[in-house]
Amino acid sequence: MTREEWLRLSAILGAGAMIPNELHAAFADGEIKRSDFGKDFLWGTATAAYQIEGAWNVDGKSPSVWDHMAHKRPGKIKTRENGDIACDFYHRYEQDIELMKKMGIPIFRFSLAWTRILPDGTGKVNQAGIDFYNKVIDKCIKEGVEPWITCYHWDLPQTLEDKGGWSNRDSIQWFEEFVDVSTKAFGDRVKNWMVFNEPMAFTMLGYMLGWHAPGKVNFKKFYKSVHHVTMSHGAGGRVIRKNVKNANVGTTFSCSSVETLKHNKANDKAVTRADVMINRLFVEPILGMGYPVKDLPALKHVIKHMQPGDEEKMKFDFDFIGVQNYTRIVVKSLLLVPMIGAINVAPKKLGHDITEMNWEVYPEGIYKVIKKFAAYPNIPKLIVTENGAAFKDELVNGEINDTKRVQFLKDYLGQVLKAKKEGVNLGGYFIWSFLDNFEWAEGYRPRFGIVGVDFATQQRIVKASGKWYSEFLAGK
Ligand code: BGC
Repeated sequence: MTREEWLRLSAILGAGAMIPNELHAAFADGEIKRSDFGKDFLWGTATAAYQIEGAWNVDGKSPSVWDHMAHKRPGKIKTRENGDIACDFYHRYEQDIELMKKMGIPIFRFSLAWTRILPDGTGKVNQAGIDFYNKVIDKCIKEGVEPWITCYHWDLPQTLEDKGGWSNRDSIQWFEEFVDVSTKAFGDRVKNWMVFNEPMAFTMLGYMLGWHAPGKVNFKKFYKSVHHVTMSHGAGGRVIRKNVKNANVGTTFSCSSVETLKHNKANDKAVTRADVMINRLFVEPILGMGYPVKDLPALKHVIKHMQPGDEEKMKFDFDFIGVQNYTRIVVKSLLLVPMIGAINVAPKKLGHDITEMNWEVYPEGIYKVIKKFAAYPNIPKLIVTENGAAFKDELVNGEINDTKRVQFLKDYLGQVLKAKKEGVNLGGYFIWSFLDNFEWAEGYRPRFGIVGVDFATQQRIVKASGKWYSEFLAGK
């Protein structure tokens, strides 16, 4: 609902009708402005290698788990599509970065394809892969767009998956080597690094539910992977610190406010367990708090993979934590569900708008997760490293007038501002995503870009949301 619609409705409802909490911040002083966030606040857009690059087998690149799964088991992707070409960013990065500059977007967050840099996973470095990212970084710098690198956004080399992937404890060393090579190659020019993108997503969806690559349904592998990824967090962070002078080191988590509609003992406990899985499992060990096993006893299966000295090595002093939020999760108790004993309430039952991902639009959720993470005593800074939405876009007379996305961004930003005004040390906000891209198991259908892509012609069309972001960034 827009402000105008709300005001119209409240006029009908009478003086008792309050502006709902989630709209309040956005409306407090009229339209939200860039300057409300302060001059040091960082603004950007985010992408990931497999989702945009294409060129899956070009210049020495080897297959990642996503290439492998999409080719060998195409039915794993709803539309049987794959990322072979995607946005062809590999060949179009110059125009895309020029477009970012034209739109006035200060930061470009992208990830490195491990399979371009170390096609065998470890060992021999592929110079062509290094050259590609050097060209991307140099082009960003030339255009005045600051490059921010995510080391790993879900595309493990298949050769390493053949050895057990993240469920193999050697993955800690493999990952260290990849981060070492990458930071030595790019750390002279890139100062902002993120170790992982959303570890809960790639371990749970990849090894427990089997929806994402490598497509395994194996609890044992999931538990082991959780521990090895946690260890790799610390290991990767230390390598960045060692190799990159004045690095700003972070990592990113998927976070959602977990709630229940009906409070009772069983549902409240279900909320606690689901909250551990969704929000706490990966962040607490790196903060030195250990695994939250007390609130989710099933984590004893993770703990048994710990070795002496691991507790210390899991810790790392990140400069910032990236929170990535899209929706809220509403649960109720169902003890039959393995591990968490909770199930989701269908978003359509919650009475709010739903996105193309079947996710509830719930702006207040971003405020809640920011406040939740800010309450940890040892997180120095938070950055919203992803937020955005997929709606059905229509191309009419060469324009994509995605009003729902514009409203979504404004409403969520209003909540981000509310948290900031309450004193949270919040350093920035990045929209997911710059371009429409390959949305993993969903294929190309849900579109998240503020720039539309015609995948048949690779034409880029700046959507109304892209124009809005541009104007917002240009404003005071
Ligand atoms: C991921 C992106 C993904 C987006 C929308 C985020 O959790 O980092 O890769 O496209 O969600 O599903």
